[in-house]
Amino acid sequence: MKNIQTREELIRTYIDFFKRRGHKEIPNASLVPENDPTVLFTTAGMHPLISYILGQPHPLGKRLCNVQKCLRTGDINLVGTDGFHLTFFEMLGQWSLGDYFKKEALEMAFEFLTKELKISVNKLAVTCFEGDKDAPKDEESAKIWHSLGIPKTKIFFLGKEDNWWGPAGLIGPCGPDTEVYYYTGRDIPKGNPSANKKWAEIWNAGVFIEYNKTKEGTLEKLKQKNVDTGMGVERTLAVLQGKDSVYDTHVFFPIIKKIEELSGKEYGKSKKETESIRILADHLKAATFILSDGVIPSNVGRGYVLRRLIRRSIRHGRLIGIEKEFTEDVAGVVISIYPDYKELEENKKIILGELEKEEQKFLRTLYSGIKEFNKMIKTHKKISGKDAFLLF
Ligand code: ALA
Repeated sequence: MKNIQTREELIRTYIDFFKRRGHKEIPNASLVPENDPTVLFTTAGMHPLISYILGQPHPLGKRLCNVQKCLRTGDINLVGTDGFHLTFFEMLGQWSLGDYFKKEALEMAFEFLTKELKISVNKLAVTCFEGDKDAPKDEESAKIWHSLGIPKTKIFFLGKEDNWWGPAGLIGPCGPDTEVYYYTGRDIPKGNPSANKKWAEIWNAGVFIEYNKTKEGTLEKLKQKNVDTGMGVERTLAVLQGKDSVYDTHVFFPIIKKIEELSGKEYGKSKKETESIRILADHLKAATFILSDGVIPSNVGRGYVLRRLIRRSIRHGRLIGIEKEFTEDVAGVVISIYPDYKELEENKKIILGELEKEEQKFLRTLYSGIKEFNKMIKTHKKISGKDAFLLF
């Protein structure tokens, strides 16, 4: 496998590869979507491109690529329980806006994985859409993967849950996709990626966006066929470096070290504490990036998501024994890991100030809640629904 030490190296390798194949690099957009009112946050590189996917010509042409910071809370309950789920992550993507389709997209993907990153084919499996009333089984992608060298035993067909992407909100572009998995086990790669957790999804190598979901809930065919892709930077780094989880790579390890120092707990020792350390590291990284894009904690919309992320990390901080205020210390480390995101350094004062305010506010709420609770258990026989609601 190619020796890639840093996220910067992986990002450059990817972007240069696709630039050599006619793609123009587009900027890494804000986490607050500018052109997509259907979502609270940028959850994938395609958000800023929606109008071009729908047919408007893009000023830079039909082939684009970039790295995009993303935020997703859909899998928040899985964060920490394994080494691969995150709320904030970076996504490498390339797009065909009505230009190439399945064949060229998958040929480039295969070449990038096996020639550029030098990943052994034996470690890879792919999944394709099994078909339903909306779209047929994607035999074409399976055939292309097979012709490139993926054995039939490593090509799986799955349903909409796994192999359909979008729309990200309620309406918009969507389509069947094909995903690439890497076997993280030390044994012989086996089993179905949807069942065997040793398979880590590293690349949505092609959402074949042919459809637009309307507000009536129907799918209409778009006038052009697009390809939208997304490769997880943190997961691919972990895989290339032979690490068991994204938390063992340099985009997390300094944060983990800081949390170990603050809590006196050792990462990897106890399952519960490791989970809390991971949640704290993930959530505070996400919060730092959200704050750097101008969102502040509140009780609605984006501000509420931010508030929950910060408060959830503080709660986990308490669970691993951190007694003093700590969010600013952790955010400082996050900022130092990503010097290329100028908005972090530029807004450092605001980021740290807002974290401090939110932490103090939450601690006040928490302490008065604990006081209230202690009062309740002294005077009440049972905690009623009303009491529980008040505590919440
Ligand atoms: N938009 C696609 C995804 O996020 C590539 O998986």
